[in-house]
Amino acid sequence: MPFMRELDLLRQEVEQCKRCDLYKARTNVVFGDGNPEAKIMLVGEAPGYYEDKKGLPFVGSAGKLLDTLLGEIGFDRRDVYIANVLKCRPPNNRDPNIDEIERCSPYLFAQISYISPKIIITLGNHSTRLLAETDTGITKVHGKIFKKGDKIIMPTFHPAACLYHPEWLKLLREDLAKIPFLLSD
Ligand code: URA
Repeated sequence: MPFMRELDLLRQEVEQCKRCDLYKARTNVVFGDGNPEAKIMLVGEAPGYYEDKKGLPFVGSAGKLLDTLLGEIGFDRRDVYIANVLKCRPPNNRDPNIDEIERCSPYLFAQISYISPKIIITLGNHSTRLLAETDTGITKVHGKIFKKGDKIIMPTFHPAACLYHPEWLKLLREDLAKIPFLLSD
């Protein structure tokens, strides 16, 4: 597996991270999970309560929804790699701040370079702003294709937001249904 060792060393580094204050309250660093050779990477915002407890991304209710939606297009976690912009939980699940994103995002960029996915799905505004480099809100930009070097970036809704907005859930489902076509392009 190319870059497996680098990814492991990076995980060890992130597990010791004190680049911002979020380390003080964390139970676990949430580095990322899934197949490090995946062609599809999904990038959320930051760990929540259950992710912090388990050290794994998207294991709460938003994660269950994500698993269901991936299942509908024939994928499970072994087919994708899932990470977040922040590796530690912000208190009370508040939004990541600019300073935290600046300090933590080099880890995400390193993960992307080691995993080298063909497609990156950004879930919600934070990962979209960082990776698709657009300030356009997710309701307008979801489902659009951005090409960055050899990568395809497709923003879509954050599954947590869709738990309470059936109209967004429908759009999230439609966006994710594009993944098999993007893969075979
Ligand atoms: N929301 C996120 O953005 N990431 C997680 O891992 C869980 C919930």
